[in-house]
Amino acid sequence: MLNEIKKLRESFNQEIDGISDGDSLDELEVSYLGRKSGKLNNILRGLKDLAEDDRKKVGPLANKLKKEIEENIVIKRKELIHGKASEEFFDVTLPGTKFPEGHLHLVTQAIREITHIFEKIGFTRVKYPEVEWDYYAFGALNMPLDHPARDEWETFFIDAEPVGPKGKRILTPHTSSGQVREMEKGKLPIRMINISKCYRRQADVSHLPMFHQFEGLLIAEQVTIANLKGTLEYFFKNYYGPDRKYRLRPFHFRFTEPSFEIDVSCDLCQGRGCKMCKAGWLELGGAGMVHPNVLKAGKIDPHKYSGFAFGWGVERVFLMKPGLNIPDIRMLYNNDLRFLQQF
Ligand code: DAH
Repeated sequence: MLNEIKKLRESFNQEIDGISDGDSLDELEVSYLGRKSGKLNNILRGLKDLAEDDRKKVGPLANKLKKEIEENIVIKRKELIHGKASEEFFDVTLPGTKFPEGHLHLVTQAIREITHIFEKIGFTRVKYPEVEWDYYAFGALNMPLDHPARDEWETFFIDAEPVGPKGKRILTPHTSSGQVREMEKGKLPIRMINISKCYRRQADVSHLPMFHQFEGLLIAEQVTIANLKGTLEYFFKNYYGPDRKYRLRPFHFRFTEPSFEIDVSCDLCQGRGCKMCKAGWLELGGAGMVHPNVLKAGKIDPHKYSGFAFGWGVERVFLMKPGLNIPDIRMLYNNDLRFLQQF
């Protein structure tokens, strides 16, 4: 009996392949499934004469073949009526599949926003090399070769002999290296905003070995601290909104006199003090009035011109945006999509 079922399947498959019109298909259907003399029904009818055990085996197989034959006949009939292609109907009006879309990295967004704010008051964005000469990062900024103030910038040095008068090559530890480069262009007044990558040997919740700074430099006649404070105030109001607290703390930098450090009230702890800020204020960077020696290094007459400068960390400034609540600066660069996609 099992053998008969097998043979029947084979012969059906062969016959249906050769069929090319509806009438022959009808005939085929009757010859297999017809009530009276259909080949399959003969088998089904014979089942009752089998021993119970055999019936249990053969019955399901015969029924399976019956279903197969029925389905194949339906498919063949559709093919004969519509042609094969109609099975794969394609609706050209369906909307396409959307590819997942990314967005600019948070730091890029911050850089663009900061640039835009300063451009509105006449500053121009520039970029200077990340692999820099010792001279621009230190020497020209009133820190001669053996000056201990250099230690403040935990600098990476390039392992190569110095060539020429500008000393060793380093990975620039701050964007202040752009100050004298900008002066060397020989155009006054200067209103520069230099944004670039900086490198230092440091890593913890509020420090990264690679980070970004933005450096403002304004040089013209009769520039005063009032201009510096006004510019900082303008930036704070535009970036953080009208109510954010910030403060200027007297400090010492070799390239500005007087100098300040700028702190913003910490948004993570609302000024109570936390791991990020320590005492409720987060230091964003420095600022001050450009030192006459720096102007001289840039071939600018300090008796005629004066200027202010400031240099802050982009990532830190960004972290202090109201409501962000990012507890560790390193999260910005872990590249965890679950984090990045929230912004
Ligand atoms: N370059 C300094 C730093 O990275 C910050 C700084 C201080 C920049 C005073 C300035 C400035 O332009 O006037 O620590």
